[in-house]
Amino acid sequence: MLRGVILAGGLGTRLYPLTKVTSKHLLPVGNEPMIFHSVKQLTTAGITDILIVTNPEYVGDFVNALGSGKDFGCEFTYRVQEEAKGIAHALALAEGFASGGKIAVLLGDNIFENSIQHAVRDFDTQQRGARVLLKQVPDPEHYGVAVLNRNHRIVAIEEKPEYPQSDYAVVGAYFYDTSVFDIIRTVEPSARGEYEITDVNNAYIQREELEYSLVHGKWVDAGTTFDSLTEAHQILLSSSDW
Ligand code: G1P
Repeated sequence: MLRGVILAGGLGTRLYPLTKVTSKHLLPVGNEPMIFHSVKQLTTAGITDILIVTNPEYVGDFVNALGSGKDFGCEFTYRVQEEAKGIAHALALAEGFASGGKIAVLLGDNIFENSIQHAVRDFDTQQRGARVLLKQVPDPEHYGVAVLNRNHRIVAIEEKPEYPQSDYAVVGAYFYDTSVFDIIRTVEPSARGEYEITDVNNAYIQREELEYSLVHGKWVDAGTTFDSLTEAHQILLSSSDW
């Protein structure tokens, strides 16, 4: 059975002073703390064993907000990321939790108008490798960007390229088989000093084991700007899925 991992670390400096006393993932979006959305995405897709990775400052707040999981029909495990060294670094903390199984990974600040359960089903039928979710956006330079060939296969992912080769953003929802942890051990820190999830995904491309699904409906990375936070509010308040 697929297990879920929600990455909710980082200091949220881009949303300061809203993040002066708490994590961006606990800020209100729609009528709930932001992280509730990721939890509901996973439980809606039938994933009920969920690891929350957060930073030491706010782990108590997450436990207060989420509890055991009883209210959500799931079971939470918590892990602390001591240093903010990137998404792949945070994901490495999930190795024991995954215990050799496949995982679905969500960035806790990504908000979707619709359920992503179709991608979970696609990954269920996938023998091995990894799967990402793509969304066409007007501003791909702010994200990981997928380069597609004529056969619509991903041949590379470029992290925040100055001159994007497509308008397909790689959103913050990833599916991995158990080899992800060996791959993370081979990744070196990037120029911004982080272990990049894009490097992990490119390693799967080298193995010819990276597939993708498309996002249905709107998507926003709510943690980037105040405007993106406002957009996330609007998306959740007008969505029929949540
Ligand atoms: C991260 C990833 C990027 C992805 C984005 C989605 O960027 O590095 O590839 O497109 O999440 O939200 P960050 O927001 O950490 O800069």
